[in-house]
Amino acid sequence: MGALDGRIAIITGAGRGIGREHALLFAAEGAKVVVNDLGGAPDGSGGDRSAAQLVVDEIVAAGGEAVANAEDITDWDGGKRLIDTAVETFGNLHVLVNNAGILRDRVLVNMSEEEWDTVIDVHLKGHFVPLRHAAAFWRQQTKDGVEVKASVINTSSTSGLLGNPGQTNYGAAKAGIGALTIIAAEELSRYGIRVNAIAPAARTRLTEQTPGLSEIVQAPTDASAFDIWDPGNVSPLVAYLAAEGTPTTGKVYLVHGGQIRLFQPWTMTKTLEKDDRWTVAQLQTEMPRLGG
Ligand SMILES: NC(=O)c1ccc[n+]([C@@H]2O[C@H](COP(=O)([O-])OP(=O)(O)OC[C@H]3O[C@@H](n4cnc5c(N)ncnc54)[C@H](O)[C@@H]3O)[C@@H](O)[C@H]2O)c1
Repeated sequence: MGALDGRIAIITGAGRGIGREHALLFAAEGAKVVVNDLGGAPDGSGGDRSAAQLVVDEIVAAGGEAVANAEDITDWDGGKRLIDTAVETFGNLHVLVNNAGILRDRVLVNMSEEEWDTVIDVHLKGHFVPLRHAAAFWRQQTKDGVEVKASVINTSSTSGLLGNPGQTNYGAAKAGIGALTIIAAEELSRYGIRVNAIAPAARTRLTEQTPGLSEIVQAPTDASAFDIWDPGNVSPLVAYLAAEGTPTTGKVYLVHGGQIRLFQPWTMTKTLEKDDRWTVAQLQTEMPRLGG
């Protein structure tokens, strides 16, 4: 008995890194998996369809069920075809893991329009497009009288939720994914759809190329020590959130090694208030009470 027996799942960007680990664990836990990946370089350029197929071959060799899909998740029609691939191959869809991502790091003052647009596109639109088409599929099932127990897991980052210099494009997209998660969870609960997000930390080609991180993420020299940067550490939480019986929705979790932490959403703290409009002079006196 697996935790995901009978579940049909799409995982975007599952040809490498964290997404590949999700796909292998999902299949081992009994899910039928659509392995999506266009097989691009870390900056999103190029494409190699074999990336997704290699993971499918691995799953099938281990006795699991999977199909490859090489759609670009930023493409509106491609996103629809991705959802159709799950339904046409396996007969249904229960889980969408939005994971695909790229990096084009640059300090703000040097960032090009293309670097900004491409990163916002792959992460923010690349989450919206599959979610939009999957949500429409599940809403139709609800209208047809089918009881939907769907789960969406998005991929945010501390770079956006906490901030990281050199990543205004990536951080803005990842913070946006946090907001997308919370609003989608509120809108879609009526159709039986739960939406959560993770902010992972793991050794992949993205962190191995990041200055300052590349040395930190290395595996321990003692092979028996717990490798906190192993990308496989991230996947059990995602599988838990994907399971039919999990009640959680609208949450964002950090997951790194053996650590899982719940993020607190944006929240208001101290108040400055009076029953009239403030003058600038008054604010010059009073604003320090709010801090900053
Ligand atoms: N590695 C970390 O520590 C870390 C930290 C925070 C967030 N993340 C996020 O986790 C996710 C996975 O990253 P990773 O570190 O495993 O990187 P990775 O480069 O190993 O894997 C990302 C995969 O996404 C695919 N991809 C990129 N653009 C695509 C597109 N338009 N359509 C389909 N597939 C596409 C790539 O081909 C690649 O195989 C990303 O969203 C990343 O931002 C990773």
